[in-house]
Parts: sequence; C-alpha cells; structure tokens
Amino acid sequence: MSAGQTAGQIPGLTVIVLAAGGGTRMRSKTMKVLHPIAGRTMIGHVLAAARAVGPQRIVTVVGHQREAVQAHLAEIAPDTVLAVQEEQLGTAHAVRMAVEALAADGGLAGTVLVAYGDTPLLQGESLRAFAENHEAAQRAVSILSGVVADPFGYGRVLRNAEGDVEAIVEEKDATPEQREVREINSGILAFDAQFLLEALARIGNDNAKGEYYLTDAIGIARVDGLAVGAYPIEDVQQTEGVNDRVQLARMGAEMNRRILERWMREGVTVMDPASTWIDADAVLGQDVTVLPGVQLLGATVVGEDAVVGPDCTLKDCEIGAGARVVRTHGELAVIGAGASVGPFSYLRPGTDLGAGGKIGTYVETKNATIGAGAKVPHLSYVGDAEIGEGTNIGAGTIFANYDGVRKHRTTVGRQARTGSNNTFVAPVTIGDGASTGGGTVVRADVPPGALAVSAGPQRTLEGWALERRAGTPQGDAAAAALADGDPAVADAAERP
Ligand code: UD1
Ligand code: MG
Repeated sequence: MSAGQTAGQIPGLTVIVLAAGGGTRMRSKTMKVLHPIAGRTMIGHVLAAARAVGPQRIVTVVGHQREAVQAHLAEIAPDTVLAVQEEQLGTAHAVRMAVEALAADGGLAGTVLVAYGDTPLLQGESLRAFAENHEAAQRAVSILSGVVADPFGYGRVLRNAEGDVEAIVEEKDATPEQREVREINSGILAFDAQFLLEALARIGNDNAKGEYYLTDAIGIARVDGLAVGAYPIEDVQQTEGVNDRVQLARMGAEMNRRILERWMREGVTVMDPASTWIDADAVLGQDVTVLPGVQLLGATVVGEDAVVGPDCTLKDCEIGAGARVVRTHGELAVIGAGASVGPFSYLRPGTDLGAGGKIGTYVETKNATIGAGAKVPHLSYVGDAEIGEGTNIGAGTIFANYDGVRKHRTTVGRQARTGSNNTFVAPVTIGDGASTGGGTVVRADVPPGALAVSAGPQRTLEGWALERRAGTPQGDAAAAALADGDPAVADAAERP
C-alpha cells in the first residue's frame, strides 16, 4: 500500500457526482444539495462517501445555482474537479460534461462511478463493495440496484428469462408490465471508462422526456455483447434521493437514528433517542450519557464518562471527560475534564473552562478563559476575560467589556475571591489572591492579596418608613414591629 492510501481504496477510480438539477420540489431559495442533514450538506455526505473509497479524482457536475454550489465545494472539497452543465439535458449529458472537464485533466481510464448529490445516507463501504463487484466481474457497466415495495418514478431493471440484465427502462417509457418490476436503478452506476466514452457518443434523446438517459448505456452494452450486471444493495435507503422537505425530514430522522445506533453500539448511553440529535461529525467517548433533549452539533467532541443533558444544544464544543453539562446552550466552547456547567448557562465562542471548573446558573460567557477549579456559579456575564485557577467569582458579577466603542479585557488572577454584585470595568486587572467586597465597581487594578471595596459606608435612617410610608402596609408593619417603645423610634414616629 502506497503512502497516503488507506485500506479499501480503489486506485485509479473516478467518481462523478451529478448535482446540476434544480430540485424545484424543495420550493427553496437554497439549492437542493446544499440543504443540511445532520450537520453537513447533502452533497457533503455524498462527497464524504465518495472520498472514503479513495478515488483518484472526484468530479462534481454543477448547473443550477452553480455559484453557490461551487463556493460550498471550494470550502468542503477543494480537491473536487468541477464540471458545468449549463442546461440540464439529462444524466448522460451531465456525465458528458464531466468527461469534457476531465479531458484537460488527463482524460479517463479505469473504473468510473456515477452517483447523485442528493443521497445523504450513502456510505463509502457500499460504494466500495459495488465498485469491487463491478471490477471483479469485469463488466462494461454495472447497476447498483435495489428491490423496493413501490418502484414508482424509478428506472426499472429489466432481466431476461435467464435473469441477465437487458436494459433499464424509465418510468415514463415503461409498459404497464415493465412498471410491475420492483428491481430499480438506484441511479448509481459503474462503468469501464472506455465503454463509457463509447456509449456517451451513441446515447440519443429519443424518449418520453427528450433527455439523454445515462441508463441507455445498458442497452448499448448488451447490443455490443459486453458484460452487464446489477448488484442489488440490501439497504436501499442509502441510495434514496431527497426531493422535497417531507423527505428531507424523514431522511434527517433516519440518519439521526443510524448515528445514535452507532454510538450506542460504541458504548454511549442515549436515554431518549427520540429527542436526541447527534450530527455526523460529532464524536462521543465511551460511557458518555446523553439525557433527553440534547443536540450535539457540528464537530462537537464529548469525552469519556461525561453526562450531557437534559436539554442542551452544543455546537462545535469540546467537552472533557467526566464533565457534567445541564440545560446549556454552547457554541465553540471548551469545557474541561470534570467541569460542571449549567443549568441555564450560555457559552459563547471562545469560552474555555478549565478542569474541575464551574459555570453555573444564568451565566453567559464569551472569549473567556476560566482556569482549572475556578468558579462562576451564579447570574453573571463574563466577556473578554481571563480568570486564574481556583478563583471564585461572586454571584451577579458583570465583566463590563464594552465601553460603547471598543471591547476590553479583564484579568483576574488565581485564587482570588470576588464579592457578589461586582462590576469589573475593563481593561482592569485583579491580582492573585485578591478580594473585592460586595457591590464593588472595580475601575482600577487591584494588586495581589489586596481587598478592594468601592461601595460607600451604609447610611441608616431609623424609622424612615414610619414617616415616609405612614398609612401604607409597609409603614404599619414597621410601626407594629417597633411598638414596644424604643424611645428614639417613638420620638421619630411623633414628628410631624
Ligand atoms: C434517474 C435515473 C433512473 C433512476 C433514478 C434514481 C436516468 C435517465 N434515470 O431518474 O433510472 O431510477 O434516477 O433516482 O438516469 N442531473 C443532472 N443533470 C441533468 C439531469 C439530472 O445533473 O441534466 C442530476 C440531478 O440533479 C439528479 C440526478 O442527476 O441528482 C438524477 O436526475 P433526475 O432528473 O432526478 O433523474 P430521475 O428521473 O429521477
Ligand atoms: Mg430523481
């Protein structure tokens, strides 16, 4: 095996992904193949499957909204060759555009797989098994077929009395008898490159739709006496295309079901699969427990033994081993091993909570590094901050990072103890082992070990309610409490 090649790769393979069609039934401003399922676009899933087979090249045929598709491909699969099909004249025409694009790129040889960009459940292993079967049988063309209960809309695989594949006939061109056939063309075909070039030159558009059908290649191979065959896939859903939003939701749920099943088999406890959503790129460790109402989105990673939920949405987050995350919304946040978050926490991008640390109830954090064992337990906003290890931030603390024009940082050292209801007016630094009193507004740096207090001494006006709230429930309560005759109070009560 050469460098960079992994097990199961098929050297010299070309995969052509057709994605030029408009997908009008989606009734969407977004191009069909760009709709997301489980955190990737549909075409993203297909390209991942294609890449898993280790092809020499992937060619994607774009047409409708091609700028949007091209921009997306540049991001997720910059290695893919682009072919443009201006007008959608049929699947054979689309493949011809791919072949033309490859002419400038060394031409075509070996095995060519054709797949569609709207089949999100397709797995690399299935493509590989199909390509291997095609190569082993040395066929000119192979069909990845499937047997379905309702074949309506699909091309039917026609076999002769011996069971040999003769042709594919499209729904609109089929006789009533042919429409009874339940073995369908999934749309995924494998070709010998030489034969494909030959067939493309011969396929016409004399049919019910007036399109160039790639499926006509099967009949052509038969006429030429070349080997043709179908390889039925058991898991037909993998080849199912999404055409409208109803199917989109159904396929999304099916993909989620498969992802959850995989993680459960890997040793993750999912208490309520029906309310749990895990994206394709999320990674979970052994003995993770996922409680009801959890979404683990994007590239979220959850370490061993962590417990997540109930009711969390975590996107592109990293959760350390043994951490506990309850009713939390997080994005691009790191939660250290054994740390505790929630309930009702909002972790915005750049939050980095150290091992054993705590972000508690009604706390919002952003661009904040909170050291190991440090705690922000209650009702606080921590923005653009650095908090040292072992420090405790008092309840109701605001890191005032915004002066109305610019954002500034606050640094709190290690093992500091700040009082409740503080405001840290950034830029400001509070040293290691420092303290602040309740209600302090910290505007100037606090040196290590110092105590800063900014709230003034308390003024107490005795009997104030008897005078200013006389005749109200408050005044009456005060009067009753004081009725046993403190002379100073009685005196105050008598003042006009
Ligand atoms: C096609 C197959 C049919 C198969 C079915 C499986 C042909 C002639 N028929 O029919 O046998 O059972 O898929 O779903 O191949 N596309 C282009 N450019 C075009 C036409 C299509 O890129 O000019 C793309 C579409 O975006 C789509 C795919 O090719 O992803 C299939 O096209 P579609 O029009 O849906 O073909 P079907 O009629 O469904
Ligand atoms: Mg279709």
